Amino acid sequence: MSILTTERAALLRLQIEFGADEAILEAPVNRYRVPAQTAPTPAPVPPAANTPVPPAASAPTRPAADEPTLPARRPPASAPGLPSQSAAMASARDLAAGASDLAALALAIRAFDGSSLKFTATNLVFADGSPEAPSMWIGEAPGADEDRQGKPFVGVSGQLLDRMMAAIGLDRRSAYITNILPWRPPGNRKPTPAEAEVFHPFLERHITLVRPKLIVLVGGTAATAVLKRPEGITRIHGRWFTYELGDAPVPTIAIFHPAYLLRQPALKREAWRDLLAIKERLAAT
Ligand code: URA
Repeated sequence: MSILTTERAALLRLQIEFGADEAILEAPVNRYRVPAQTAPTPAPVPPAANTPVPPAASAPTRPAADEPTLPARRPPASAPGLPSQSAAMASARDLAAGASDLAALALAIRAFDGSSLKFTATNLVFADGSPEAPSMWIGEAPGADEDRQGKPFVGVSGQLLDRMMAAIGLDRRSAYITNILPWRPPGNRKPTPAEAEVFHPFLERHITLVRPKLIVLVGGTAATAVLKRPEGITRIHGRWFTYELGDAPVPTIAIFHPAYLLRQPALKREAWRDLLAIKERLAAT
């Protein structure tokens, strides 16, 4: 392998470590390039009487072909002009309340400009499975695979979730799956509490529209966002709580996230017990 190739491979690995694990544009953008200095425009001199005025030199209206530009729908992650957290939450509440069905809710989320996540993600990840199914499974946030396909839990941890569900007789036709965040956080980082909060009105509306008989919170982040309890997932998993859905309280349980189980296989025995509790409860509904 040549030195150049080794260096490029090292640079790629470093970028992946820093969270840049996906190419958003076909060509890289050199943000350090200093724009060419343009000479100050001389003050216009009024033409002398009878002097023919030459046609104005046409200003370049678009960059040269070798200058990549960012697509218009992608302001930087720290886009100036994002509303304050309270204004964003008010807007999320209004948009969510106006959604009378799931299709309208997906449109409302798309229309919501109160979070920079929309501008760094590729696809909206709304839900998968059957909204008529008795159980609604709520995870954390899309990762790179989900962002690419626009579906929740389709990557490695999704495959384990599929196997966990299959173990109790469920699949994507007999369950409904979504996340607390509909857009992928850059670099697969955990959602911040502020992000979870700002999208919460959409999640609440989602649960209200689906009206599940049972809610499964997949992982500690989803459990904290929905149950709003101080305990971590190791304390809270496998216990039954109630999600207040108007006149119909919904039995709700948290389980270990499959990504966590992949790192901590010793927890699979406890995870199995939690799945059996879900199976039993579903059989009783
Ligand atoms: N992890 C999640 O919590 N949700 C997904 O959709 C994928 C991975």
